[in-house]
Amino acid sequence: MATDETSVSAFPVNRLRRLRMTSVLRDMVRETQLSKKDFIYPLFVVPGKNVKKEVSSMPGVYQMSVDNIVRECVEVKSLGVPAVIFFGIPEEKDDVGSGAYDELGVVQQALRSVKKEVPELYLITDVCLCEYTSHGHCGIVRGSEIVNDESVELLTREALTHAQAGADMVAPSDMFDGRVRAIRSVLDDHGFQNMPIMSYAAKYASGFYGPFREAAESTPKFGDRRSHQMDPANVNEALREVAQDIQEGADIVMVKPAMPYLDVLYRVKEKFGMPTAAYNVSGEFAMVKAAERLGWVDGERVMMEMLTGIKRAGADLILTYFAKDAARVLDRDR
Ligand code: PBG
Repeated sequence: MATDETSVSAFPVNRLRRLRMTSVLRDMVRETQLSKKDFIYPLFVVPGKNVKKEVSSMPGVYQMSVDNIVRECVEVKSLGVPAVIFFGIPEEKDDVGSGAYDELGVVQQALRSVKKEVPELYLITDVCLCEYTSHGHCGIVRGSEIVNDESVELLTREALTHAQAGADMVAPSDMFDGRVRAIRSVLDDHGFQNMPIMSYAAKYASGFYGPFREAAESTPKFGDRRSHQMDPANVNEALREVAQDIQEGADIVMVKPAMPYLDVLYRVKEKFGMPTAAYNVSGEFAMVKAAERLGWVDGERVMMEMLTGIKRAGADLILTYFAKDAARVLDRDR
């Protein structure tokens, strides 16, 4: 007899409700298990001391100076979330994003301190220039063009300073061509052959990054990111992006945002079978928090449903601002 799910026995021999009758049984047959080990928690580092400033559109998410970042990392670790990803907002921005590849930059300082104080936490860094450039673009701007190859050179310098400061993994988020290959070869040349690269491989030009740009102070002063980030309408192109990044040496590939792109995530996981990450971005987080505040949805329930859906679609790893909240729920319901 065929075991294909489309040819199950007919009612009344088969009643699909049988396995839904008790919570014990539902637990036993659940297909997708969300785990704290899947989560990567994003953190925003700013200069100064004792700074902890809430991002207005992201309740519970803060810009923090290194001292508070260390405290936050202790908490993240104690909740059982294994990894964080750092974004930096520098003291000063300029048109070449110097703060991004400064050995004494905010992220580099955070890496050194956290590595020392919370050595078991896994430290990932976002590699991009947009938080560091005065114009808010992800690379060097010439006329109306965001130039590719020169920008990639700066990204390799950024990745190397992160590695030297103690990063465990780098994650280029710029979407320029050839950056994975370039970063791989610079890391290899400097003894970091074993440092993995998680590439933001299929990253879309999305309206869902709005709250992040407040948090990272990285809204472009003119123009937009459509000349390097992907058109939301495309999926075949996403598969080409992912294939290219794998060829260039990406160890983990990411789809971003998550919720409106679950089909992309599913196809990437099916086609390549690579460790695959999904970024549950700032706008996805903010919408849930806002609707929760208005009393329109049960925030906790929607959060867990969203994260489960992302995992069910194929994500091995989920970058999410919900990591701490979801870890607490998983502990409670264990
Ligand atoms: C770029 C970067 C962005 C995000 C992560 N890395 C913003 C952008 O491309 O404008 C967005 C993350 C989010 O919305 O949570 N450095």
